[in-house]
This record gives sequence, C-alpha cells and structure tokens, in this order.
Amino acid sequence: MESQGRPVQFRGSETQMVSAPSINISNKSAGASGLAIQAVNLTKKFGTRTSVDHLSFSVRQGELYALLGDNGAGKTTTINMLTTLLSPTEGEFFIAGHNGMKESEKCKDAFGVVSQDVAIYQELTAYENLAFIAELYGVPKAEAQKRIVHLLVQAGLADRAHDQAGEFSTGMQRKLSIACAVLHTPPVLFMDEPTVGLDPVSRRHIWEMLQELREQGVTILLTTHYLEEAELLADRIGIIRRGKLVMEGTIDQLRQKIQAIRSVSIDLSRTYDDADLKAKIEKMKRRVATEITFDPLRNTLFFAQPKFMPLIQFMEQVVAWLAEENLSFDKFSTCEPSLEEVFIAVTSKDTDTSSQ
Ligand SMILES: Nc1ncnc2c1ncn2[C@@H]1O[C@H](COP(=O)(O)OP(=O)(O)OP(=O)(O)O)[C@@H](O)[C@H]1O
Ligand SMILES: [Mg+2]
Repeated sequence: MESQGRPVQFRGSETQMVSAPSINISNKSAGASGLAIQAVNLTKKFGTRTSVDHLSFSVRQGELYALLGDNGAGKTTTINMLTTLLSPTEGEFFIAGHNGMKESEKCKDAFGVVSQDVAIYQELTAYENLAFIAELYGVPKAEAQKRIVHLLVQAGLADRAHDQAGEFSTGMQRKLSIACAVLHTPPVLFMDEPTVGLDPVSRRHIWEMLQELREQGVTILLTTHYLEEAELLADRIGIIRRGKLVMEGTIDQLRQKIQAIRSVSIDLSRTYDDADLKAKIEKMKRRVATEITFDPLRNTLFFAQPKFMPLIQFMEQVVAWLAEENLSFDKFSTCEPSLEEVFIAVTSKDTDTSSQ
C-alpha cells in the first residue's frame, strides 16, 4: 500500500516541538438537539436472543460517556449498530444529527471507531497505516502530514514510525489504532474497551490521549470493564445489563441511587464463636432491616446503611447493639460505595433499578 507524502523523520526532542494542528470540531459534532449520539429504542435480535433490548441513551456534544456492562451485556453489539456495522432489528439512532439508517454515509464521516479487536494493517508501518487512512478519507496531503506527525508523537510512537505495526506490542498497536481512528478529526469517537489487556503505564497513556481528545471537543462513547477508568474519565456512565440500560448518571448520581450500599465496617477486637456471632447478627437484623456480612479473614462486620436512615441514627443503633451483645471492636469506618460496588449491585439484581 502506498503511503502519502515523504515519511517524516523523527529525532529526539524535535518531535516534542510538533504542535497540534488546529481542529474545529464544535460546530459539526452535534445536531440541533446538541446531542452527538442518540440511540432510540435500539434493539438487536440474533435469532431468538435479544442482545440489545430497546436501548435509549444520548451523549451530548463534547461529553465522554462510558457504557459499562459485564461480558455479553450487549456493549459491542450496541457500538456495532451505532457505527453502522450491524443493522438494528428495531429502533433508530443519530450521529452528529444524522439519521443512522437514512444518512449512513454522513454518519460514517462523523465518527471514528476503535474496535474491541485492534484493526490495523500489520504489514504496514505505523506511518503507512496513518497515511492510508488519510488517503481513504481524502485528507489533504499537507494537513495529513501534520496530523500524522502529531498523532505519532501523541501516541508515543514517533521513534517507531517506520516499523511494521505487526512488530508492535499490544499497547502500541492499540495506541496506533486510536491514532488511526482520529486522523480524519471525527467529531465523534467510539471506543470498545480501548485499554483491555494493557499494562498500567500504557493504560495511563491512553487515558491521556482520551483526555486530550476531549479537550479538543471530541464526543467519546467508551465501553470498559475497568470501573476506575469510567470513574476517572467519564462525564456520565450508563450501566447495561442483558441489553438494557439499567442505570445512568454521573458517578455521584449513581452513588446516590444506591445509597443503601454505603457501608459501615466494624473491626472486631477478638474472634467470636461463629454460631454465637450469627445469632447476634440475626438480632441486629430484627432491630434494623439491613444487610450484614461478616468477613472472617479480616474479622470485620460490614453493615449496609439502610437507604432512608441517616448515618448518625444508624450508627447509634449499631453501637447500642455492639454494647448489648458485648462485642468489642477496635475500629469502625464508613465508606461510600465505589463504582465497582455500584456496578455489582446493579448487575447482580434481577429487577430493573433504574426507577429507584
Ligand atoms: N453475530 C452474533 N450472532 C449471534 N449472537 C451474537 C452475535 N454477536 C453478539 N451476539 C450475542 O449478543 C450478546 C451480546 O454480545 P456483545 O458482544 O455485544 O457483548 P459485550 O457486552 O460486548 O461483551 P464483552 O464485554 O464480553 O465484550 C451475547 O449474548 C452474544 O453471544
Ligand atoms: Mg464487547
């Protein structure tokens, strides 16, 4: 495959001086509604199995939205529909204001995609991969040259620009695939688990790339299993389970929705007989309807704070119970649910919690 223009040489500090070409994304990334991505009752059935089930959500222009869900929840199927790879069984969607089914070519121009399986040409060099994409999208040569240089620097691949992509590590290939996805400056970017299987340093590097893209005004829909990734990067999070959106909001909103899993932990100062402790716990449960678990390894009791009981009142009940039952403790602490706990609470429930 032919690469565009003369390959640039990358030498040490010179590469650090390459500045980003100006990108004007803001005007073209959203429709009149201000929404860059909109899914309306999006549904995909494979035979009798419904993989995506009347999914509706939207991502505002410039927002980073993380779609979380366990294996088989329907994340990739959703992205495949939104990127026009799969046609929905039902429902519709809009990308940058264009109807996904009726104006699919306009949609395709408006987005870049980083798929779950890295899709780059293994036999081409990093430079050639990017140059090929530039040609594909008709990016003018001079502009393409500037952007390729910038993206190679941003991806930390400047000194490997002329090595075959097939020789790259997984992390390097993934960074190159992100560079390929954003080369034509799409206002919308879909990323299906962009950091899966990467070491912490590579993940951090990709997060930096994402943050830079967001600062440029790119709207990003990201799927991930890494909760801290969503917590760190996302403006809003949608949790999908069995193809349905079961919860959506900012991190704080999600935490508030599941206040009941804010926990209070008590480190007991000595070990107690199992059966005896169990009986005592049952008494506490009769006193306050709450979930109590005991971790024998840490000799710690965990109490879920009841949703409608203020923390102080709940603590009074716990302390009174500890005193009555002659349970001595060294330490107590309260903790807000982490996104992980929110996720587990939502994905392990049979009922839809979105109405809570
Ligand atoms: N081409 C297909 N034919 C039949 N079933 C499919 C097809 N693609 C996906 N599915 C089914 O759709 C469901 C959702 O799959 P999908 O790949 O969207 O999940 P996911 O949330 O991306 O999971 P993971 O986290 O493992 O990537 C699964 O039950 C899967 O078996
Ligand atoms: Mg997937």
